[in-house]
Amino acid sequence: MKLKIPGVPSPTRLRRYAPGQPLVDGPVLVGGAPGGKLRDPICEILGRAGASVGESPSAVAEPSRWSAIIFDATGITDIAGLLALHAFTAPAFRNLRPSGRLIVLGTPPEDCPQPKAAAAQRALDGFIRSAGKEARLGSTANLIDIAGGAEDAIESTLRFFLSGRSAYISGQVIRLTPATPMPTPDWDHPLRDRVAVVTGAARGIGAAIAETLSRDGAQVIVLDVPAQGAALAEVANSVGAIAFQIDITAEDAPARLATYLKDRYGAVDVFVHNAGITRDRSLVNMPAEQWSSVLAVNLGAQLRINEALLDQNVLRPGGRVICISSTSGIAGNRGQTNYAASKAGIIGMVQALAPVMAKGDMTINAVAPGFIETAMTKAMPFATREIGRRINSLNQGGLPVDVAETVAWLGQPGTAGVNGQVIRVCGQSILGA
Ligand SMILES: NC(=O)c1ccc[n+]([C@@H]2O[C@H](COP(=O)([O-])OP(=O)(O)OC[C@H]3O[C@@H](n4cnc5c(N)ncnc54)[C@H](O)[C@@H]3O)[C@@H](O)[C@H]2O)c1
Repeated sequence: MKLKIPGVPSPTRLRRYAPGQPLVDGPVLVGGAPGGKLRDPICEILGRAGASVGESPSAVAEPSRWSAIIFDATGITDIAGLLALHAFTAPAFRNLRPSGRLIVLGTPPEDCPQPKAAAAQRALDGFIRSAGKEARLGSTANLIDIAGGAEDAIESTLRFFLSGRSAYISGQVIRLTPATPMPTPDWDHPLRDRVAVVTGAARGIGAAIAETLSRDGAQVIVLDVPAQGAALAEVANSVGAIAFQIDITAEDAPARLATYLKDRYGAVDVFVHNAGITRDRSLVNMPAEQWSSVLAVNLGAQLRINEALLDQNVLRPGGRVICISSTSGIAGNRGQTNYAASKAGIIGMVQALAPVMAKGDMTINAVAPGFIETAMTKAMPFATREIGRRINSLNQGGLPVDVAETVAWLGQPGTAGVNGQVIRVCGQSILGA
């Protein structure tokens, strides 16, 4: 149970996705700077989703008018061009509904040959991170940078950031690179006909990932250690998944897993490395066993399993590997030299494997959760827990489903343009920001 602390504001209840829910809960304001080419594609996507579109921001106080503001900033090539961003977003931002969205579409600065264009595009980064901090009532602000040639790959990402599925993501920059997205015939079940595997799925975030992938139409295989067999079976029964007991650190685990998946399914589409452990101690008091066990579960097993998945063609073309990292792996955390090393190592692995995966039309990405309400965080001392919950722009902890929704989006056939990235699900935590 959460306590109401006198003098501390209660956090806003975030709009989260529920099946059947419309993409947005009100009109979307769409604008852009001259030279941008994404306005029409954005309006087409909104049209397909049944959203109504407005095109002129009102200076009149009209609270709760817009469910989202989308601004195409890809045409901005100098700092004077940034004025259009200000002119469009400033009057409308206060008229966002609760859990509203500010989404800016930009060009990756490194793709801009002119320094003044690169500077203006990089300015969007600071703009969006600050807007995220100013957003109120559960609203979020995110920047999607679209590389040349990736314009056709925006739909699944735009839908994700507009919807309640991205409730706990703010202040982030997402990169889309050129890729051919596979079609998504049913946006309510974007993972239909996909086979997905989730490690560490007997409880917590892994169980939520299994449930969400299954809800989105995937056939799910849930993995956990034999000691968690009963809990794993319960998760499998409740979400219609298949349970497979395995210790992912066992010497023969990659080979056993590859053989099982190939024999039973031919190949799989989505592999989620979620299993993880903590063994916290300050560095000076850290026994070698606690160091090694955390690196073995959180990082070594992922490396070895990925090698087997690729060597033995266990992933189909269009395959997606999603690895759960942590904001501790970005910001570091007292008492977690082992855990943070393992979670940072995941990011290194993802970045190195992304080009390899791209050659086979596959992707690999990391998801870095911040403070998520689970058994792990429930066990923290009261003050540490309350601080963890509050030091982010949404002023609350995330839920396992917030991580799960992000995994499901990255697992979609349409999310082909997101590769080698780290998506933070942390409510824009100030840690490592
Ligand atoms: N809870 C948070 O706030 C938070 C924040 C950042 C990152 N994460 C990461 O999210 C993931 C899930 O976290 P959680 O809070 O749900 O943890 P959890 O401890 O509730 O669940 C982890 C699961 O992994 C399984 N597991 C552990 N070792 C295994 C092994 N060798 N083989 C197979 N399964 C194994 C466990 O049995 C357990 O069911 C972890 O990688 C964790 O590091 C969690």
